[in-house]
Amino acid sequence: MSKDTDFIPSDYPETVASGSFEWSAPSNIALVKYWGKFEPQLPANPSVSFTLDTCKTVTKLEYKKRLNDGNFSFDLLFEGQPKEDFKPKILKFFERVEIYLPFLKAYHFTIDTRNTFPHSSGIASSASGMAALSVNLMSLEKALDPKISDDHFWKKASFLARLGSGSACRSVKGEVVVWGKHAGIPGSSDLFGVEFPFDVHPDFRNFQDTILLVEKGQKEVSSTVGHELMAGHPFAETRFEQAHSNLDKIRNALVSGDLEHFISIVESEALTLHAMMMTSNPYFILMKPNTLEIINRIWKFRRETGLPVCFTLDAGANVHLLYPENVVEKVLQFIKDELVAYCKNGEYLCDRIGSGAQNF
Ligand code: PMV
Repeated sequence: MSKDTDFIPSDYPETVASGSFEWSAPSNIALVKYWGKFEPQLPANPSVSFTLDTCKTVTKLEYKKRLNDGNFSFDLLFEGQPKEDFKPKILKFFERVEIYLPFLKAYHFTIDTRNTFPHSSGIASSASGMAALSVNLMSLEKALDPKISDDHFWKKASFLARLGSGSACRSVKGEVVVWGKHAGIPGSSDLFGVEFPFDVHPDFRNFQDTILLVEKGQKEVSSTVGHELMAGHPFAETRFEQAHSNLDKIRNALVSGDLEHFISIVESEALTLHAMMMTSNPYFILMKPNTLEIINRIWKFRRETGLPVCFTLDAGANVHLLYPENVVEKVLQFIKDELVAYCKNGEYLCDRIGSGAQNF
């Protein structure tokens, strides 16, 4: 079993003066949701997600050796321009991971980052952003110690990403990723995400996720606050147990290709996530009237056509429409005919399952 201390390196055999790496990492959408955490960024329950393909962050990391003066030294660029307001989050991340990456203060970094999805589309860039930065930092660690195994490289990249933003650990490697210790998933851990260790049924191959943008911009309540409100939540223990049981069920559906079962778990998880928000103290609602309109239209469409389309939600008002590749045309037509009217400025993003971080 892995422990935090497995990720503390011993002395590095090599020295590296300067250079750069560039990686992209995608967003991910949880099927069984992580909601509730405890220090240091450990999940209160296990979760599983589809890794996305086109919604991603691309990050170039330039590094230059410097005299270690006891401080972190970095510039942060967003789309090529300095972005001071992103810096505190990166600084906090560096402080959290320094013990695992003891070279951090010995370099000056220029972190140049951009997203492929539109600015303030309501899609959180923290998962893809922290995953992309973590894989870049692992590339530098690998240059300092070329003997690092692939397995350790990916595990540690996910471990670091988790310390940056919990669900980011599911954006590093694999199409279907489990984060959090679960009895039915061999190798699963609270410390990092692992690739779903069973063969996923071919019906899930190239599964589609169309993100209907209902509300753009900053959320009214951050997920950090939402997670915290699960401490002392009256339904917390039952919810955490339910997540374990739903993970068992969705594992079976992913393997057998039972789409009906898959849909019932995914939609129940989405509504349970929002039910937890509505029953927190203080309570809050992130869905908007158009979120509900869309959900009702999806249910009607499914009833009438029998097509296996379902929705999920993250911590916001946007709706993710999930469906197999063989119904793309019909579903896109349905979106254009009926759902676009409920999207802000008629906008939606077409994505699908992807495989994780990519090196340039
Ligand atoms: O990783 P965070 O702190 O942004 O939390 C993500 C929480 C949800 O998106 C609502 C659920 C999940 O498992 O991704």
